[in-house]
Amino acid sequence: TRTIKLAVLPGDGIGPEVIEQANRVLDAALEESGVALERTEFKLGAERFLATGETLPEAEQAAIAEHDAILFGAVGGVPGDPRLKAANIERGLLLKLRFDFDHYANVRPCTLFPGVASTLKDPGAVDFVVVREGTEGPYAGNGGRLRPGTPHEVATEVSVNTAYGVERVVRYAFETAQKRPRKKLTWVHKTNVLVFAGAMWQWIIEAVASEYPEIAVDYMHVDAATIHMVQDPARFDVIVTDNLFGDILTDIAGAIGGGIGLAASGNINPSGAFPSMFEPVHGSAPDIAGQQKADPTAAILSAALMLDHLGLESEGERIRDAVRSDLASRGDAQRATAEIGDAVIEQLPARA
Ligand code: NAD
Ligand code: IPM
Ligand code: MN
Repeated sequence: TRTIKLAVLPGDGIGPEVIEQANRVLDAALEESGVALERTEFKLGAERFLATGETLPEAEQAAIAEHDAILFGAVGGVPGDPRLKAANIERGLLLKLRFDFDHYANVRPCTLFPGVASTLKDPGAVDFVVVREGTEGPYAGNGGRLRPGTPHEVATEVSVNTAYGVERVVRYAFETAQKRPRKKLTWVHKTNVLVFAGAMWQWIIEAVASEYPEIAVDYMHVDAATIHMVQDPARFDVIVTDNLFGDILTDIAGAIGGGIGLAASGNINPSGAFPSMFEPVHGSAPDIAGQQKADPTAAILSAALMLDHLGLESEGERIRDAVRSDLASRGDAQRATAEIGDAVIEQLPARA
């Protein structure tokens, strides 16, 4: 038996509800697989902060680092909650893990599965993946406030792009495109206005492209990319872009792919020096938390991405098969979070 050490961070709001189902599906899928999961749960997030004042204690981060992978739900309280003003759960916990564990490839697939209604009327065959840079750009935390709260305040939020950071994510995106049948890569930026970072991204794309002659490369400004994404999403294969553009594009992609409740992601450290982290694209959804209304599919598909990453692609594919079957027969009926988990488990294909 192979034992996989899994750190589970359910988080806040619907996080624990969807992670519960992802864990059930993982257990059912891995039955008789020869793979055992050894889980450690870490209770981190807004709730923990409100109870103890802690965001991510060093010892817990070190303990998380000792695992083979991380399954993450969602963190964050009700936007605007004054008690969380000083906490900054998103930066201090989620982004800290992504940065410290060097999750530079934030991989967010968008596939419209058969039988799923897109927000678009006639989306065509949607099957693309956004490779979002995960450790720098406008998220770097480089900035500050002068004269805060005064009419003369100046606030900066400087986008940090290093050749090292851009090259490695661009290379990851080319490698991703190389493994896909269409072999197409679209890089998205705003080079007409963000001329410094834009120029650097451009030369790096061109340099790496010369090593991948089979890949067709095109470029779009991010504003135009949003048009193309909603008018003809089938044109995309692999998209590579910076951290903030990627955040926004992947929420649009979520809506196109049948709703944010289906959108999965992996925060990948390809070197394996630290565990990669798998999480739904969505947040803690305080508006529906605690009501069993959340769709756990995004979390379940994130768990499947995790199995792929751990070299268990056929196990990941069994989960995707089960999700595909469930989605194809789902219809409009509102089902509780746990009912969707039950249905996916029921649809797991028999082991050959
Ligand atoms: P959100 O993604 O939590 O919710 C946006 C909308 O989508 C809401 O109407 C919600 O009900 C719906 N939704 C989300 N997930 C769903 C699911 N699985 N099934 C059905 N409907 C779903 O975004 P928000 O409201 O902007 O943020 C809420 C909190 O979550 C904030 O504190 C934010 O910072 C945090 N957040 C965390 C993460 C993360 O942990 N990765 C991601 C995004 C937002
Ligand atoms: C996401 C979220 C996060 C991000 C926030 C909560 C820090 O929106 O995972 O898409 O911006 O990356
Ligand atoms: Mn987001």
